[in-house]
Amino acid sequence: MPEFGDVRRVQTPFPGGLFVVIDGIDGAGKTTQCALLAQFFGERGILCALSKEPTGVDWGRKLRESAAAGRLSLEDELDYFVKDRRDHIARTIQPVLDAGGVVILDRYYYSTAAYQGARGADIAEILKVHHEFAPEPDLGLIFDIAAGGGLERVRARGDEPNAFEDQDALDQARAIFKDLASKNSHIVLVDATQTVGQLKKLVIASVAKAAIAKVAGKPEEAAVCRLFDLE
Ligand code: TYD
Repeated sequence: MPEFGDVRRVQTPFPGGLFVVIDGIDGAGKTTQCALLAQFFGERGILCALSKEPTGVDWGRKLRESAAAGRLSLEDELDYFVKDRRDHIARTIQPVLDAGGVVILDRYYYSTAAYQGARGADIAEILKVHHEFAPEPDLGLIFDIAAGGGLERVRARGDEPNAFEDQDALDQARAIFKDLASKNSHIVLVDATQTVGQLKKLVIASVAKAAIAKVAGKPEEAAVCRLFDLE
């Protein structure tokens, strides 16, 4: 256990917070790894919020209902995802980052580019709209898996694929995710066919790299290196 300041206080070693997103097509194992990452920070006394999009609140709840009950028009769907995200940023993401905490998100606007892009929306326009209001993560991890493999995992956990999870659309979404990773140095493509344990190591190593780059040369650098057991 690294020595880390006053143990009676929650620790916030990242000035401006640390923002990590895990995204990718369904069944890639994002949710498991988000939980393991939140546990890593929680066990070490670091302020951390784990959340997901679409949320289960207001616009997000309407979207989740639409996946089961009949899909919205593309225009309404995009509008709801953007409204849900604006609210989520205002309610959760920005306040936790402002408090110096870690935010771990299961899906973000990369999913809007990939899924609504696969449905025919203009991807460049989606990115432009989000660049205007959505904070950029310090690290985005895209979990990459073939659409068939992802759907198999969705069924194996006892779920039926929802209206967003048609194989052709997922193939297209996967290609859009890969393209985002190839064009942005803070978005890293991860082979999601690895075991849970291998993926966990890779996720924590990637987060460590992004976190240390963020505090390089700052007073927090030594503490952050200790947090990740890197002296
Ligand atoms: P998902 O993470 O699969 O939720 P759960 O595991 O709780 O069922 O998200 C639901 C669906 O929403 C998923 O198929 C992808 C889709 N989605 C979009 O189409 N656009 C977006 O912007 C987001 C965040 C998700």
